[in-house]
Amino acid sequence: MAATKVLVVDDDLNIQRVLVFTLKQEGFEVHVASDGQTGVEMAGAIDPDLILMDVAMPKLDGYSATQQIRAAEASAEGRRVPIIMLTAEADVEQRVRGLRAGADDDIVKPFHPLELIARIKALLSRSGGIAKPKPGTEAPTLARLCSFYGAKGGVGTTTLAINTAIALASRLRRRTALFDANLQFGDERVFLDLGLDSSSIVNAITEPDLDADLLKRLMVTHRSGIDLLLAPPNPEQADIVVERQRTEPGTMSNILHLLRKAYDYTILDTGRTIDDFTLQLFDESDVIFVVMTADLSCLKNVRLVLETMDSLGFERSKVQLVLNRSNAYTGINVDNAESALGRKIDYQVINEYRGAISALNSGEPFMSSRPDGPLGQNLAKFAADIDSVLAAEVAAAGV
Ligand SMILES: Nc1ncnc2c1ncn2[C@@H]1O[C@H](COP(=O)(O)OP(=O)(O)OP(=O)(O)O)[C@@H](O)[C@H]1O
Ligand SMILES: [Mg+2]
Repeated sequence: MAATKVLVVDDDLNIQRVLVFTLKQEGFEVHVASDGQTGVEMAGAIDPDLILMDVAMPKLDGYSATQQIRAAEASAEGRRVPIIMLTAEADVEQRVRGLRAGADDDIVKPFHPLELIARIKALLSRSGGIAKPKPGTEAPTLARLCSFYGAKGGVGTTTLAINTAIALASRLRRRTALFDANLQFGDERVFLDLGLDSSSIVNAITEPDLDADLLKRLMVTHRSGIDLLLAPPNPEQADIVVERQRTEPGTMSNILHLLRKAYDYTILDTGRTIDDFTLQLFDESDVIFVVMTADLSCLKNVRLVLETMDSLGFERSKVQLVLNRSNAYTGINVDNAESALGRKIDYQVINEYRGAISALNSGEPFMSSRPDGPLGQNLAKFAADIDSVLAAEVAAAGV
């Protein structure tokens, strides 16, 4: 088999040397260009399997060179070569600029050679060296949008949203996205052990030319197989999103539309306050899972939530009740809860303190680390149950 070809585009001689040495040791065939212009020409001439692209370079900078390579691919309907930007700073703006130009990933200088190799391998395995399907020829998705809303703080909404998403992706092989739509207090970065320097909904909603490709690159691919659209990194940035949604709700609709087109399931972990932003998400969702526990104050909230949903004109079947920690002793059992609410509880998830907490502390969701533990099995069943209902709906609608 021919060696994998990597094109290094960097004007710094020292970096060139380090990269050539590291890549050759890994068995790659390495080509070097010392400026952006030569990089573009060589990309066309040698058809590399991957490109490492510096940002600041003579003649043509890395952003423009990337743009030109993407433009050439588009006009020739050619293969999309994975490009990793070598940036000088872990600055979100800079990273987004690279992604917008058409890069797939970036790595901040100085980097550890092992990290670079890991990123290269991840990107190569993701692209599989396979030609990108022409737009419009991808298999259609189920396009389901599912909100998870906690009737009270701390009932386990984020835990259920993350692990359901992972089960849908890893067990049921559904293309799955997770959108942390809890703008002020999104927890998914913490739960999934991600830093503050990744792009988020802020970048997506403020992007004037957002399309499916760019949105995908603004999302973070988690090792469990799901793609994440993260919450803003701080409350000030949450205000940008809220303001944008208020003045131009169409921008949010467009993001949801792009997510539907790219994923079978988009799981939304919404904030607690039912404001305009959350209402729009509810409105556009196919189903809203209201997560609850069996205690008095939560039951009171569920009743209020159900009334609100009723007054909004949502159909009963759009709002589904999920009782979390169902077997925890609270003095109120499922029957009591159902008669207090005057409706059925649709799903139950067991209480397993140890499984949930160890996952929280390790930054590895239990659906990845212990899929066969009691909670993992229970959530896998929940995911399979909702998948069979939702997929049947799609089939019945004749999509
Ligand atoms: N089924 C369960 N069994 C045991 N513990 C659970 C279960 N579900 C969630 N937990 C634990 O409950 C705590 C709260 O969970 P989580 O953060 O998911 O709730 P939340 O509703 O998203 O909270 P917030 O209102 O802060 O967004 C966590 O410590 C989690 O590990
Ligand atoms: Mg939460």
